Amino acid sequence: MIYKYEDRLKIRGGSRLNGEITVQTSKNACLPILSASIISNGVVRIDSCPDILDVQNMIEILTELGVSVRKSDNDYILDSRSLNLNHLDFNLCKTMRSSIFLLGAILTRCDSVMLTTPGGCNIGERPIDIHLKAFKKLGVTIRQMGEYIFLNAKNAHAGKVKLKLPSVGATENIVQFASTLKGKTTIYNAAREPEVVDLCNFLSKMGAKIIGAGTKKITIYGVDRLHGTEYTPIQDRIVAGTILCAVAITGGNVRLKYSNSIQIRKLIEILSRMGCQIDVKSDIIELTSDGNLHSIAKVETGYYPDFPTDLQSIMLTLCALVHGETEIVERVFESRFLIVPELVKMGANIEVLSNRRVKVVGVDSLSGACLQAKELRGGASLVLAGLRAKGETIIDNVHFIDRGYEQIESMFTSLGADIERI
Ligand code: EPZ
Repeated sequence: MIYKYEDRLKIRGGSRLNGEITVQTSKNACLPILSASIISNGVVRIDSCPDILDVQNMIEILTELGVSVRKSDNDYILDSRSLNLNHLDFNLCKTMRSSIFLLGAILTRCDSVMLTTPGGCNIGERPIDIHLKAFKKLGVTIRQMGEYIFLNAKNAHAGKVKLKLPSVGATENIVQFASTLKGKTTIYNAAREPEVVDLCNFLSKMGAKIIGAGTKKITIYGVDRLHGTEYTPIQDRIVAGTILCAVAITGGNVRLKYSNSIQIRKLIEILSRMGCQIDVKSDIIELTSDGNLHSIAKVETGYYPDFPTDLQSIMLTLCALVHGETEIVERVFESRFLIVPELVKMGANIEVLSNRRVKVVGVDSLSGACLQAKELRGGASLVLAGLRAKGETIIDNVHFIDRGYEQIESMFTSLGADIERI
């Protein structure tokens, strides 16, 4: 799919959503797995990658690193036996900011790498101190000169790393880096997200020796080299949650072809308590809603297995349209309520109490408006608001949404929504 920067979405709200839909492969599993493919000295095939901007950008970065990439449909065949890592040019460093977990993979193939200090983005400061502290603990020397950071892994060694926060990216960086680092490396306070587990499963399929994926303690026994393999990443739990919340909001019935319901059990519990009928089978989640739901007083995000921060904006829209008051607490990122003013434009009753807490009082309906997506998940929350709103909603900056959702308009038209890309 060619996503154009100036694309916008036009939504005519009011349709109930009905039908069956298969959930795309996970963006946040696919990205580190594509990164880790360069650790192998063989050919790697990653199947069913989602056709989204972040994957397209990652493929561009890998190609610039000298990986030969062949694509058939959404399957990628990657051969990184002839990397040309010595000229990591500056603009690559800029784009690499968005995929900081490439560091760990690159440092298994070359001794040094330079990157620019990542600036904050719109959901928070996005520092990399936890990543750098962990690399340092494993003998990587780090020098900062102005906005550039130089890492040298010539004298790197296995060891123990304790993360001050269970950072997904930092865990993924160290797991990749330690996979071919001679000796035993242990990560304490590791992230337990399903995407981290999927990366570890992928690395193990390439011959890595990893124990404890999905727990707070991950042990990696370095091996000489990883071989090629073929792998299909897990489905996207955030996209699955987005679709369930959309049907909860508009009313209707959806059969979601999604096989990891355990990974969104917190959301399923919340939607049931709000008044949705949910039937969970091994690879299907069926949700029915009359669109007339009630609040559950409080929703708090946290590190997995708590309620995911990436569904917080989606939950904002849902809570804006249920009967009653909800307090939403964001415990992972420090400024993830950017989308509130856009929802208020539509008539939502949301009060920002701090950069971590909002109070939402449900209203019966929202009115269509001209809106600006500000980042990926906030943009998706505006789409859900437009699906329920009276009248027409136009959403600008759809490129943010295209980073993580595969043609979001097609996803919802297949369920009966009146939405088009203009
Ligand atoms: C991953 O980001 C995801 N991105 C995010 O999804 C997700 O929100 C996040 O994990 C939390 O689950 C990808 O996997 C590509 P973190 P990541 O390091 O790795 C702080 C989406 O919408 N921190 O777990 O960057 C950080 O500021 C995206 O798909 C440090 O302080 O998240 C944050 O407050 C958004 N220092 C907290 O840790 C560091 O060195 C969690 O960040 C690193 C992180």
